[in-house]
Amino acid sequence: MHEDIETVLFSEEDLRTRIEQMGLQITEDYADRDLVVVSVLRGAAIFMSDLCRAIDLSLEMDYLAVSSYGDETESSGVVRMEKDLSSAIEGRDVLLLEDIYDSGLTLRSLLRTLQSRRPASLETAVLLHKQTEQQEAFDLRYVGFTCPDAFIVGYGLDYAQRYRNLPYIGVLKPEVYQRR
Ligand code: PRP
Repeated sequence: MHEDIETVLFSEEDLRTRIEQMGLQITEDYADRDLVVVSVLRGAAIFMSDLCRAIDLSLEMDYLAVSSYGDETESSGVVRMEKDLSSAIEGRDVLLLEDIYDSGLTLRSLLRTLQSRRPASLETAVLLHKQTEQQEAFDLRYVGFTCPDAFIVGYGLDYAQRYRNLPYIGVLKPEVYQRR
């Protein structure tokens, strides 16, 4: 285990097993559909790559990027798109992937944007649903795990752009972010 990690929440094996299950479910649900899987850079890239390989269908992978939100975005509830999709999604079945649903601002804002392009369907798959008190209730179609309101990193999730490449998800030691 990395020296900056306090505890491992989800091991490589936990992630592999759960993502396999999600892939099977999505394969069943989207048989004979025109599936476009969309992920949000950068955090969801690793989840995207593993989940898509667990889906046994012909599908398209596309990416978008948004600006990190700060106080300003929290008040407006809108995130700014920095990189748009490469393909059109009108009339197609879109599955929007996120590594983590925290306040939900990013996902809900992107759903509004994508919905305005008139896809045939638009659903969500998140690897982690963080349990926080401030969060609005929201119906997510596919959820990998619920997780506690802790500072977590790994498997795509970063702190100051580090730890994304850890193959597991763990809780960061408080002294790591307190020393900044
Ligand atoms: C993280 C994560 C989600 C978002 C979730 O992205 O990847 O996109 O925050 O938080 P929310 O539910 O409160 O909106 P971040 O802005 O850290 O950028 P990254 O994907 O590059 O890590």
